[in-house]
Amino acid sequence: MARRKLVYEGKAKILYEGPEPGTLVQYFKDDATAFNAEKKATIEGKGVLNNRLSEFFMTGLNNIGVPTHFIKRINMREQLIRSVEIVPLEVIVRNFAAGSMAKRLGMEEGTQLPRPIIEFSYKDDKLGDPLVPEEYIIAFGWASQQDLDDIVALALRVNDYLSGVMYGVGIKLVDFKIEVGRIWENEYMRLIVADEISPDSCRLWDLESGRKLDKDVFRRDLGSLTDAYTEVARRLGVLPSNG
Ligand code: C5P
Repeated sequence: MARRKLVYEGKAKILYEGPEPGTLVQYFKDDATAFNAEKKATIEGKGVLNNRLSEFFMTGLNNIGVPTHFIKRINMREQLIRSVEIVPLEVIVRNFAAGSMAKRLGMEEGTQLPRPIIEFSYKDDKLGDPLVPEEYIIAFGWASQQDLDDIVALALRVNDYLSGVMYGVGIKLVDFKIEVGRIWENEYMRLIVADEISPDSCRLWDLESGRKLDKDVFRRDLGSLTDAYTEVARRLGVLPSNG
């Protein structure tokens, strides 16, 4: 394969220049990190599974009219995406208390929330992606009030879609994170779902047993991460062996 220009290397993915202007190639690595990269490992096959799963979720979203950066999968580890200007926020949607929210508020993990709760973290690895109020986001110009309204609407649509799809295969969507990017079309700016949607960025619990099928398996040393992600892929009919 011809050498491509590296645009950005993150903890779990690499972005290369794409074949057409306005496109990028997103490569999924096998690297897993947690606790702001204090815990690291290479988990064979994770990148292949996440490439497939992100393709599955992003395609579903595109098909129901929720815009995403996903264009097509290229091979086992790479997908073609639209180049966006990333909004420097991690947009977290929670349906049940878990993780940092459960800890911060002293709640039992799994407690149902009165409604989906959306929170924002400022994307900065050095700072450990701190939770930020909307006031900061607007005052520091990371997004406008209109952008935030649009981001909330987008995040809630993703939540409804993902919750339904996962429920259909016996999995509870506890929470997830998305990233959002800006694109310009005929002078109009649009916000679209970017980055990835995979068990790296969601909490997924088996509906019956409560078994964790997401990155908490790695964060909390609960067994094989590959087995957990393969189980999600299997239930969704997305198996990495078929091409
Ligand atoms: O750790 P916390 O409870 O705040 O995470 C909420 C959700 O956001 C989890 O599904 C987690 O996997 C995801 N997340 C992420 N990337 C981060 C922080 C959280 O994908 N940097």
